[in-house]
Amino acid sequence: MIDPAALALETRTGLPEELRYLAALYPREVWSGHANLGMTARFWLERHDAFRDLGGRIGAGLVDFREERIEASAFGPWLAPRLQRFLNDLHGHHQIEDYQYFPVFTAAEPRLARGFELLDGDHQTIHHWIEAVAETATGFLRSLDGDRDALRRASDAYATSSETMLAGLMRHLADEEDLIIPLILDRTEDGIGI
Ligand SMILES: [Fe+2]
Ligand SMILES: [Fe+2]
Repeated sequence: MIDPAALALETRTGLPEELRYLAALYPREVWSGHANLGMTARFWLERHDAFRDLGGRIGAGLVDFREERIEASAFGPWLAPRLQRFLNDLHGHHQIEDYQYFPVFTAAEPRLARGFELLDGDHQTIHHWIEAVAETATGFLRSLDGDRDALRRASDAYATSSETMLAGLMRHLADEEDLIIPLILDRTEDGIGI
């Protein structure tokens, strides 16, 4: 029996054993060279890497700002378009997974249904984090022209919500891949119908 508290996106360290029986057959090391890793899976993994890359740059930019390696007047215009694209793309990506992919994967392997429910729940958690990031980022960008104390408070609030979201998202991306890629390698994309 899976303990729900152990599966919270904020604290879990990977998929539970019960959902790893295909991942055990197809470990990460074999993915890139496997003949069944088709176009859809490759494109989808590239999307995930793009989120890791841009998420990493957004996180690193914030560190640079807080450690005063970049001025507020330069950081705000740098951050705004990147963060907007990141949050929009992430929302769209989750919509496609929830409505297009997860139902097909669940039908292909009902024993993993619990895993797709877990990922769906992650998306809801991340959605709340996206809202918090958007709100605190707006407050932060508005405070760039204000006094130092207000700017510090607003940047602390943005930093907290940004770090929470990025850490949880990295966990989600890895677990999602561990659930989905082994299933694709086992059945092929044609066999699953994607
Ligand atoms: Fe996802
Ligand atoms: Fe994803």
